[in-house]
Amino acid sequence: MTGGIDEALALNRDISELGARFNIGIAVGSQTIALENKQLAESFKVVRKVNRNGLILANVAANTNPRMALRATEMIEADGLQLHLNVPQELAMREGDRKFKGLMDNIAEIVHLSPVPVIAKEVGFGMSRETAKQLFDIGVHILDMGGRGGTNFIAIEQARSGVLADEFASWGIPTAASIAEIVSLDLPIVVVASGGIRSGLEAAKALALGADIIGIAGRFLRVWSDQGRKGLEEEINRLSYHLRASMLMTGSKTVAELRRKPLVISGPTAHWLAARGIEVSKWARR
Ligand SMILES: Cc1cc2nc3c(=O)[nH]c(=O)nc-3n(C[C@H](O)[C@H](O)[C@H](O)COP(=O)(O)O)c2cc1C
Repeated sequence: MTGGIDEALALNRDISELGARFNIGIAVGSQTIALENKQLAESFKVVRKVNRNGLILANVAANTNPRMALRATEMIEADGLQLHLNVPQELAMREGDRKFKGLMDNIAEIVHLSPVPVIAKEVGFGMSRETAKQLFDIGVHILDMGGRGGTNFIAIEQARSGVLADEFASWGIPTAASIAEIVSLDLPIVVVASGGIRSGLEAAKALALGADIIGIAGRFLRVWSDQGRKGLEEEINRLSYHLRASMLMTGSKTVAELRRKPLVISGPTAHWLAARGIEVSKWARR
């Protein structure tokens, strides 16, 4: 989630220890600052130090120089490399990036060079199926669609003197719609669902829609900062209990079974999918 600042060392250590304990993968925040200033690398390296065998993902911006991106992976001996796409956030930031030309070619080059799988990742604005297809075609087969509904970086940047208008705070594809868009492509894409997942029931819904993996950032950060490591441990236990309860109540022994249960999509998500020509009865009548 984060790194570089003093608090990040404690956060990353705690999260990584809990990751090892619960067998949950951990993704660090953007490592660019530590690539530029080696003294800051410790707050990232701690993640691998306390969790020798767990799943750990490196993270840089998608426009990072490919050689630098590989160094981020090496820094924490990561199992995968996340490339974040955050154009709306950059545009909201006064000092944000404005150069996005050649982004797809850069991602393709990183995929070509990377010894570990590459994951393309949004940060809360969602991914359309067209974007997903474009990324798939250049060799990115794991997508974290990071949809709208949770942490909102336009709102955050606006509050810090951003340069977009406040009306952009509702920008983005909601998480549920984005998962359904990507799943409807019917391609061998590993879908990571994130963006506003705060509970075991929400995780169950995302899995039932077709996600393979769930990602949680804001909720865990808030619990950790309010209640510390112990509170986060309880939160993970609670979330896990609620996810398993949802599975039991739908008669699903495995996630694969949950994904075959009928799922009725209604309200704004159904409208969204209908407008996009995606048949919701596919989920309801399976
Ligand atoms: C404090 C904070 C820092 C973040 N830093 C990064 C980052 O450096 N790189 C990245 O890819 N995503 C970053 N994210 C985005 C999250 O990984 C995630 O995509 C987003 O917060 C949506 O999930 P959520 O609603 O569960 O928070 C950050 C999120 C938070 C809350």
